Amino acid sequence: MSEPPVPLETSVDHGFACVRQALAAVQPRLAPHEVGVITKVSIGIAMISGLPGVGYEELVRFPGGLLGIAFNVDEDEIGVILLGDFQDLHTGDQVERTGRVMDVAVGEGLLGRVIDPLGGPLDGKGLIATDQRLPIERPAPPIMDRAPVDVPLLTGLKAVDALVPIARGQRELILGDRQTGKTAIAIDTILNQRGQNVICVYCAIGQRAAAVAKVVANLREKGAMEYTVVVVAEGESAPGLVYITPYAATSIAEYIMEKGRDVLIVYDDLTHHARAYRELSLLLRRPPGREAFPGDIFYIHSRMLERSTHLIKERGGGSLSALPVIETTAQDISAYIPTNLISITDGQIYLSPRLFELGVLPAIDVGKSVSRVGGEAQRPAYREFASHLKLAYSQFEELETFAKFGTRLDDATRKTIDHGERIRACLKQPESQPVSMVQQICVLMALTANLFEPIPLEKMNDAQQALQKAASKIPADVAGRFTTAAKLSDGDRKTVLAIATSALAPFELKPAPPKPALPS
Ligand SMILES: Nc1ncnc2c1ncn2[C@@H]1O[C@H](COP(=O)(O)OP(=O)(O)O)[C@@H](O)[C@H]1O
Ligand SMILES: [Mg+2]
Repeated sequence: MSEPPVPLETSVDHGFACVRQALAAVQPRLAPHEVGVITKVSIGIAMISGLPGVGYEELVRFPGGLLGIAFNVDEDEIGVILLGDFQDLHTGDQVERTGRVMDVAVGEGLLGRVIDPLGGPLDGKGLIATDQRLPIERPAPPIMDRAPVDVPLLTGLKAVDALVPIARGQRELILGDRQTGKTAIAIDTILNQRGQNVICVYCAIGQRAAAVAKVVANLREKGAMEYTVVVVAEGESAPGLVYITPYAATSIAEYIMEKGRDVLIVYDDLTHHARAYRELSLLLRRPPGREAFPGDIFYIHSRMLERSTHLIKERGGGSLSALPVIETTAQDISAYIPTNLISITDGQIYLSPRLFELGVLPAIDVGKSVSRVGGEAQRPAYREFASHLKLAYSQFEELETFAKFGTRLDDATRKTIDHGERIRACLKQPESQPVSMVQQICVLMALTANLFEPIPLEKMNDAQQALQKAASKIPADVAGRFTTAAKLSDGDRKTVLAIATSALAPFELKPAPPKPALPS
């Protein structure tokens, strides 16, 4: 049975009553709403007038939702850097204040994602599930909240872990000309953090889209995206976006560090960042300084890298290690931006195009590379061999040039060169093949004990591979002592050397068999 129909009049009356009730409940309030107008637009920046209350670095909103950051706050004109395309803006368009500074979504929901600096997804996997935001610029932790570094950040590269060791919480610059393997070192380091309980943030600044896609595909293929966030501003992006990218990435990393985790951030590369900032500054008519970079370029990089640190236990004990990358031109490491960054960071890994051409990969120039604090956290098992190796290798590099001219060498020099060549062969390593700590120490120990000396150079690669495989035979208790702070005992050393000797034996140059005696 259906209910009798409600008369139309009653329904209309009821409707009006509801509207009246709703209107009575609303208390209209007046809110001042500051609106300015665009007076000039050019690539990357806009000048606006009529926003007297705007603060430094406040976000302003343009028509169409485009955001900008108030950068030059003058009395009658405001210079704004645009966080997007300028093409749809016109002089006379209205600009609104937002009353907040630039912030970015942070949280564990970002792991495995590729995002732009505004937090938008670039991987086509839909919206990002995070509920927290942090300003992109935050003060660095105070000195009293910082602890000395004490845990190594293993890169899986023998040349780095043995000779320029990096610690969790350290900032180590990677610099070199283009195409010398800078990105490769940073990516290898990320790949080696698998199972090490380190979260990684890869920040691609101003690179070609194809190069970034290659890196992401590599990370995904090796299963490294599970613990990695990729923040990207491509080369074609607005300079404002390129400029804020590393700051946004740092806030994402910092959030995880403050949860007590260890985080690694790679800035690839800050040369593009400096150029974007130079472009913005010149457009905003700030006075240029050395190499036309603005006077505060040192400060914009240092305040970013100062945020990397190792926190004390009371603040969770997390750490943020940074690997900024810088591209040099014609091997000039004394240019303005490289020298700035060398002085800001705790050491540098210099990649030499000469070594790259010689096929010595990774092309690390040990003489020009240094780690100022990483040695503190390096395990004693490494330290036992590292100083000997570094000295022997440097001596070899000095003598190598002489040997090229076919000079007749005395026995001692010949020996140094032979040993150096074997060290170099052992430090060579293909891309994306991290070597575990136990394998590395096994190789270093064999090198120091001169076990490679009877092996001809052309067999060194195979011999080394065999030795790395044999490292799995090292008993677990001995391998365990490699990671603890204790020194290795003579017994441990003997065990490892015995394994190494038998692994290397098949590669040794056999003395020629004695000739059979002629029948008389
Ligand atoms: N250890 C290595 N073994 C073999 N090839 C390498 C190694 N390191 C880098 N490469 C190759 O060298 C080229 C340049 O490396 P890349 O990291 O892109 O240089 P950069 O970032 O300095 O421009 C790439 O093609 C890369 O595959
Ligand atoms: Mg690169």
